[in-house]
Amino acid sequence: MDFNDEQGTLFDNIDNQPNDNRPKVFIETYGCQMNVNDSEVIASILRANGYAITNDIENADVILVNTCSIRENAETRVWGRLDVFKQIKKRKPAVLIGVLGCMAERLKDQLLEDQKVVDLVVGPDAYRELPVLLRSAEEGQKGINVLLSREETYGDISPVRLDKNGVSAFVSIMRGCNNMCAYCVVPYVRGAERSRDPRTIIREVQELIDAGYREVTLLGQNVDSYHWKHEGFLHHKLYTNFSDLLEMVAKLSPKLRIRFSTSHPKDLNNDVLYTMAMYENICNHIHLPVQSGSSRILELMNRGYTREYYMGRVKAIRDIIPDCAISTDVIAGFCTETELDHDLTLTLMEWAKFDFAFMFKYSERPNTKAARKLKDDVTEDIKSRRLTEIIELQGKLSEKSKQSEIGKSFEVLIEGESKKSSNDFYGRTSQNKVVVFPRENYNIGDYVLVKISDCTPATMIGKIVEE
Ligand code: 5AD
Ligand code: SF4
Repeated sequence: MDFNDEQGTLFDNIDNQPNDNRPKVFIETYGCQMNVNDSEVIASILRANGYAITNDIENADVILVNTCSIRENAETRVWGRLDVFKQIKKRKPAVLIGVLGCMAERLKDQLLEDQKVVDLVVGPDAYRELPVLLRSAEEGQKGINVLLSREETYGDISPVRLDKNGVSAFVSIMRGCNNMCAYCVVPYVRGAERSRDPRTIIREVQELIDAGYREVTLLGQNVDSYHWKHEGFLHHKLYTNFSDLLEMVAKLSPKLRIRFSTSHPKDLNNDVLYTMAMYENICNHIHLPVQSGSSRILELMNRGYTREYYMGRVKAIRDIIPDCAISTDVIAGFCTETELDHDLTLTLMEWAKFDFAFMFKYSERPNTKAARKLKDDVTEDIKSRRLTEIIELQGKLSEKSKQSEIGKSFEVLIEGESKKSSNDFYGRTSQNKVVVFPRENYNIGDYVLVKISDCTPATMIGKIVEE
């Protein structure tokens, strides 16, 4: 899953009609794609309740920050932002400040007390309450709701899309997580796993297709354990699992690309791989976080698989979908990690030839199993050195992954203008590799065949060869 610990994501798709008298809400989002999609749900709830969305913080009546708790860094960044919001509030005392999401859930009323700047604190399952909490905050009462739910999926809400290109959208298919990885705060801040009714997912994807979207990414902490039990359908299949859902979405339109994230190695089964192989429009890319290459560390992390099991999953992917890209997440310096464990991570990365990776230093999170039972005993220096080695190795692997495509042609979905030049477009191959190429007479949202001629460390460079 993509991450954003450093810089908040803002809405491109804003309300900027003149003479709009609605109160204006500014929303800044940190963390994973799930959080970005939550902000889209939040925007939808607020618009339906008479608020307008702005990306101009100076003109906002309400400032909301949707937060992440996954690593200490992510939280530190938000505390820094609260200092900035405090200055704004000093100048304009009527502005309301809200902390939403994972950090709201983790720190609860501490956020209201510590800073004297926050007016409302709302956890990931309480966004429907936002309009009510905002009204009471307007009347001077602090608003807090951090109740977690066993049912909430926001299934009936059509999110306001953050991106205005109108090509690619996120669709949440489940919320929460039951895995209990020892290092991870997610089950505590997002609650128990629950799947969303497939009929509401299909309806949302169909709406996106009707609005001209060309790509959806199905999101969940662990998509492979998606599971919906139908009631009262005596003559139909009683359950929808993830491979069923993928197939249902793939059949909606051959012109719609389907991606998904995140897959858990212990739950990724061959049915999903066969479904991917069967439908051309399901993209050939799997994000399969390995975390460590050492079975001993994986056991301590409570990941539910060994090094060998993970390698078996990679082999199955390569057998069933030969041109499938694989990306991963790696944690450096988990509790008790030795040089040998670290070397096992490096050798596994080399063996798997990951196309891309998110790489992190272990960061102890309060109340997790690791924080309670294990000592965070790898020094900062060693964590940094190991992370550097991991990043360097992945840099080489990522470059090789791109170089190996030179000379080949790929179907690319045009997603937008290149940041560097308005003469160029960028898009991705099915394998999720970014390509930049001269725009010619095509439009955003078109599929084009692009021949790869070169690559930089971050992107491939190509030229359209035919429609
Ligand atoms: N420290 C460092 N990285 C973490 N991740 C999750 N929890 C932690 C933590 N406490 C990483 C994992 C996960 C990704 C979303 O974030 O690699 O897959
Ligand atoms: Fe996403 Fe986890 Fe961060 Fe919450 S804590 S925003 S679920 S990465």
